[in-house]
Amino acid sequence: MKIYDWKQTINKDELNNVVNALYNSNIIVFPTETVYGIGCDAFNDEAVKKIFEAKGRPSDNPLIVHVSNISMLKRCIKNISSIEEKLIDSFMPGPFTLILQKSEIIPHSVTAGLDTVAIRMPNNNIAKEIIESFGKPIAAPSANISGRPSGTRIADIKEELGDKVYALIDGGNTKIGLESTVVKVINNIPVILRPGAVTPEDIKNVVGRVELDKHILAEVSTNEVVESPGMKHKHYSPETKCILINIENERKKIEKINSMLKDNVAFVGFEKNRKKINSNNFYSMGETVEDASQNIFSLLRKIDKLDYDLIIIEGVKAQGLGIALMNRLIRTCAYNVIEN
Ligand code: TXA
Ligand code: MG
Repeated sequence: MKIYDWKQTINKDELNNVVNALYNSNIIVFPTETVYGIGCDAFNDEAVKKIFEAKGRPSDNPLIVHVSNISMLKRCIKNISSIEEKLIDSFMPGPFTLILQKSEIIPHSVTAGLDTVAIRMPNNNIAKEIIESFGKPIAAPSANISGRPSGTRIADIKEELGDKVYALIDGGNTKIGLESTVVKVINNIPVILRPGAVTPEDIKNVVGRVELDKHILAEVSTNEVVESPGMKHKHYSPETKCILINIENERKKIEKINSMLKDNVAFVGFEKNRKKINSNNFYSMGETVEDASQNIFSLLRKIDKLDYDLIIIEGVKAQGLGIALMNRLIRTCAYNVIEN
């Protein structure tokens, strides 16, 4: 495995190696503005299979196809509506994935047998340059073993997937830290299947309407039919048990947290609460929801190595980017949530 450091500039010789590796059915780890992806030639069944194997990904969970321009996007899909066109114009490139009818060139290995395909145009120079130089779309899920927190820093990913890929491309810590907003237009209404940095408000401002899938902040029961296969699977989980504290009243919240803290319990919360929490095991998510989103997955991986028996996590208000953060934290905690 090679590690290419492109934090400052994209090395052209190394870029050539990456493109050749993709042509030869290899898989690579590359940065996007959301999280790192583990990617391959989207038209190559053999390479796609390697990604499912490397991640231990359930075979019914489709991959996102990453493109670098509109004409590449249009080759992958068919029957696009005016609402979908509007969403593409407004949010691509960006932290946004749209589910569309797939064209014939997208293999069923990528879509896990579905006739729809998830398309994303990342807004990250390294991702753009790789796809553009390769000249074909790259299929890529998040760079982590299935069920684990997503990879947002190259050191974390090296540990977990390093021996399974041709190269790890280091573009620094990812800017957003949570995966893209996944949207499907159903009966002319954009429905958010997975919340991300493109918020419901952003979408409403563009097309006038938006809905959130009911599973975003709730558990999926065993036999329920879901719009997105990923909703059913275990996600973002450290080995250590986690509990989410979702209490609105600040004083009550701090009281509850302090009553639960012990030597073998870690607390993950906002910097502003550091002085109010009676524990040496305080781990800061930062000052803002943006900071918390950027840091959370790497922080959880770090704490997971420290042999605590429990991790208590402070929740945020489910609005704007906070919806995306809460969607991840609820799953991190396997739906163990303490409410008011
Ligand atoms: O930010 C991101 O989206 C990152 C970066 C690497 O682009 N990728 C990512 O991929 O998060 P992944 O595989 O971890 O999540 C893709 C999600 C899954 O929940 C999957 O079920 C859903 O998108 N998905 C993919 N294709 C779909 C389809 N045709 N219909 C419904 N959901 C789909
Ligand atoms: Mg993922």
